[in-house]
Amino acid sequence: MLDAKELNWVNETLEKVEKKMEKVSTRSVEKIPYTTVNGVHDDWSAENKIGWWTNGFWGGMMWQMYALTKKEHYKVIAEKNEEKLDELFLDYNKMDHDNGFKWLPTAVANYRVTGNRRSRNRGLLAANNLAGRFNSAGQFIRAWNDWSDEDSLRRGWAIIDCMMNLPLLYWASEEIGDPRFEQMARRHADTSIQYFVRGDGSVNHIVEFDIHSGEMVKSYGGQGVGEGSSWTRGQSWALYGFTLSYLHTKEPEYLATAARIANYYITNIPENGFIPVDFRQPADVTWEDSTSAAIAACGLIELAKLHEGRQRDIYLNAALKLVHALAEHRTNWNEEEDNLLEKCTAAYHDEKHEFSIIYGDYYFIEALMKLAGKELFIW
Ligand code: GLY
Repeated sequence: MLDAKELNWVNETLEKVEKKMEKVSTRSVEKIPYTTVNGVHDDWSAENKIGWWTNGFWGGMMWQMYALTKKEHYKVIAEKNEEKLDELFLDYNKMDHDNGFKWLPTAVANYRVTGNRRSRNRGLLAANNLAGRFNSAGQFIRAWNDWSDEDSLRRGWAIIDCMMNLPLLYWASEEIGDPRFEQMARRHADTSIQYFVRGDGSVNHIVEFDIHSGEMVKSYGGQGVGEGSSWTRGQSWALYGFTLSYLHTKEPEYLATAARIANYYITNIPENGFIPVDFRQPADVTWEDSTSAAIAACGLIELAKLHEGRQRDIYLNAALKLVHALAEHRTNWNEEEDNLLEKCTAAYHDEKHEFSIIYGDYYFIEALMKLAGKELFIW
């Protein structure tokens, strides 16, 4: 897909990733990291943190590194991550709409690589739990749980991020030949087209539905600036998520929707390639979110593979612009520090902005692996 010069650059960048990850993975062998503190990975494998939605990405990074290097060391760490998640199956409140983020890069990846039946079982249990969150009146998968009294008011909430969890349902249907899971995923995707994707290709983060009638109540700004804004990671989840729904179903409307979101995203990429937290944040706010760039790059590369000629070049060049900006200006190549990407932001209204976040590192590696033609398909 790439010309010789670009392919060379991608492979050289992956060599740097490999050199760094060899050291990082040895230091963090027993951890499930979320971020770094003074360059050192923290650890979210403790009991009170194990349910966190990002706890599959470290395993996913290890599977991508295994695909790249075939070094057993990475497989062993990925398996540790997967096994640590087992306690979630015994706690209803630690299972949620992010089951895809937790078990696709761990258990399902393991099953795809090794055929391990215990891993397959984990993936199917996680898919069944995810399917149990489907609200049939509103045709959506409910976000989050009643973690606090206030959350009980959120039983009708769905979020755009969930587009990235649907592949767990597609996988389960493909795996056991039972279409129920795919049917729910499609209904959720259809609802998302109707209520999340705006005419200009931007998306809502949160939409609330009446839990009995299924009618839309209102939308919320969520992790972006506010209602009607354009949280860039939400844009990326939608861009990649609809592309993945197309890859699993071959439904043309999902591809058309992904293209609409991608065109909006590409139009809004700043000249320097650094992605803001929200495309509609005030002009004097400079906070960035490198995770959005990495996720969008993955979606754009998949879209490029689905197109030819000029359209293919538009997607591929946009992805390359994002990946170059990350690798050349937003990556910490110091092998003594644990993170790759810098300037990642979880939410616009959080106190803290621009730090390292594990899923940024994961999708950065996935994007490079896609460009090099070496990726383990996770989603
Ligand atoms: N899925 C939550 C987030 O993107 O922050």
